[in-house]
Amino acid sequence: MNAKQMAGYAAAEYVKDGMLVGIGTGSTAHYLIERLGQRVAEGLKIKCVSTSIESSEYAESLGIELLDTNDVPVLDICIDGVDEVDPKFNGIKGGGGALFREKIVASTAKFNIWVCDDSKLVDKIYAFGLPVEVAPFGYKHAQKKLEEAGFVPKLRMRDGEIFVTNNHNYIFDTDYTNTKFGDDYQAMADFLKGTLGILETGFFLNTTDLIISAGENGITKIENPNK
Ligand code: A5P
Repeated sequence: MNAKQMAGYAAAEYVKDGMLVGIGTGSTAHYLIERLGQRVAEGLKIKCVSTSIESSEYAESLGIELLDTNDVPVLDICIDGVDEVDPKFNGIKGGGGALFREKIVASTAKFNIWVCDDSKLVDKIYAFGLPVEVAPFGYKHAQKKLEEAGFVPKLRMRDGEIFVTNNHNYIFDTDYTNTKFGDDYQAMADFLKGTLGILETGFFLNTTDLIISAGENGITKIENPNK
């Protein structure tokens, strides 16, 4: 079993009969869904809300029942991947472009778990920059506002075309190392969210209750003391 699979499978054990479950997106969440599918086949009764078309399709193929997030005010648990997380539980998500749906679904959960391999546990979050979801209409105006504040937003491309999210929006992968906000991620998030056209950022600041990470030394569980 590789590290992502170990983490995904370990997190699946937190899911109990009768739960409403948020399921994340990405290569680690894939293994969570795989294990939940096995458990459903063995008789586990759950209903899930998915964070992306990709995860929905995979979950459905395994016989996992899905609900619309609008029909589920509160989830018992949400389990998702993360791109990077620091010791203060500041996380970056959105490497797969699903940050908007992930944030909405996570916000409805009573308990959030992130699953990852040990490489995601870092002293300082940065990864490949911060994914920022922006409306296509007038996105260059938002880009200019960000650049004026010292951010360096780079439009995400895929196969030579602009990458389009499940919500039909674009993503800026944004360098934030040279802004007036220093390392104040909350101030950056507030600024970005206050910029016309920006819909959501990949900053997930102190939002998770538990991290399940896996690597050479096996599984590590890190509880968030501030939750
Ligand atoms: C999807 O948009 C992301 O937030 C993922 O959860 C994140 O990129 C982690 O993905 P991996 O598990 O594939 O590294």
